[in-house]
Amino acid sequence: MAVAEFIPSSSASASLNKRSSFYSSQLSYVSTQISYQRRLSVRPLPRTHYSQICCSVSSKETQAPTVVQTDDPKKKAECYGVFCLTYDLKAEEETRSWKKMINVAVSGAAGMIANHLLFKLASGEVFGTDQPIALRLLGSDRSFQALEGVAMELEDSLYPLLREVNIGTDPYEVFQDAEWALLIGAKPRGPGMERSALLDINGQIFAEQGKALNAVASRNVKVMVVGNPCNTNALICLKNAPNIPAKNFHALTRLDENRAKCQLALKAGVFYDKVSNVTIWGNHSTTQVPDFLNAKINGLPVKEVIKDTKWLEEEFTEIVQKRGGALIQKWGRSSAASTAVSIVDAIRSLVTPTPEGDWFSTGVYTSGNPYGIAEDIVFSMPCRSKGDGDYELVKEVIFDDYLRSRIKKSEDELLAEKRCVAHLTGEGIAVCDLPGDTMLPGEM
Ligand code: LMR
Repeated sequence: MAVAEFIPSSSASASLNKRSSFYSSQLSYVSTQISYQRRLSVRPLPRTHYSQICCSVSSKETQAPTVVQTDDPKKKAECYGVFCLTYDLKAEEETRSWKKMINVAVSGAAGMIANHLLFKLASGEVFGTDQPIALRLLGSDRSFQALEGVAMELEDSLYPLLREVNIGTDPYEVFQDAEWALLIGAKPRGPGMERSALLDINGQIFAEQGKALNAVASRNVKVMVVGNPCNTNALICLKNAPNIPAKNFHALTRLDENRAKCQLALKAGVFYDKVSNVTIWGNHSTTQVPDFLNAKINGLPVKEVIKDTKWLEEEFTEIVQKRGGALIQKWGRSSAASTAVSIVDAIRSLVTPTPEGDWFSTGVYTSGNPYGIAEDIVFSMPCRSKGDGDYELVKEVIFDDYLRSRIKKSEDELLAEKRCVAHLTGEGIAVCDLPGDTMLPGEM
């Protein structure tokens, strides 16, 4: 029989003393392995803000089983609880070659995007089937119960690679030792809300999360900002995390790249795996620039395959820029599943070598860029990776007047957004002179 119950964790309690506004608890499993029956008993705490779900031998031993990295049977990880019952009975050989566990933090973890993403992360689809992970999930007070529900569903999914799940509302707790931080949670723009107000509200969230990452995350944490306006949120985040390389911060524009590939494939009448070298330049907004000048279809320049320049410059560009809004009109809410898929794509592009000759788009810090784009903003550009989590900017791209002028518009928009959040980046007093038509893809 296995028993699960909420109990205060000693490490979490210690941090509770330091940060008095948060409670801690731990959901740990006790398994005798005699019977396969399970009982879940929940002892309610006044308020649960930090929980850990992991395999454990008893309420006092809360450490997840360590990954087997040796052939020495004495050093074999102990196996407890429901995860063990799933993998250890039949997958002993696989566990021998598992890598060291990584900590992946996700904010907005009770939301729709995360609900698609977390199960992909846990399945091995993202980091590989030899990569055990610990999920560290950040929610809000309002979403905490839902977050517990997410954790329970993860638990019930019996993923062999998922070794720990922590949930909490304090980024200083949840981001502890994070090697990846996928920052999804942000406030949507409400009716009548000025864009400057949105930048401020969400900017404050990302300033706080940047500080928390700076304080407690791995020194080489890779940060993927998804919450909108993601480019400027990423800038705010990195400015508040001076001890983490600015290069490690990304704003998600992979969804835009995927959308552009789909539209080009449709127009050319080919399957989308024939479309490559697609860059999204700039902001994840309606000024973004899907680059058809450098893109290829079946290895040929797009303009040699799609000869309709008017379509490329006008229709194609606008469809991609406004695809998020078109989706909201259909769904009544922002894209979720395709966003999660694009987060997976974006991470995989960093942890697997880029196919020869190709590249991918991601919003990254511009300082030192070879394209003449303004320094010190987060701008989507073409990148390549060796698969080590790092990337380099692609140099062999060409520009024409059309592309340059479109890029300039997105650059101006991001510079204006940056001035508007100067109070959050430590650069003085904010001045909001945002261009009138500056919008998120979903705002049109
Ligand atoms: C998307 O591109 O689907 C979203 O960023 C749209 C939005 O504004 O939420």
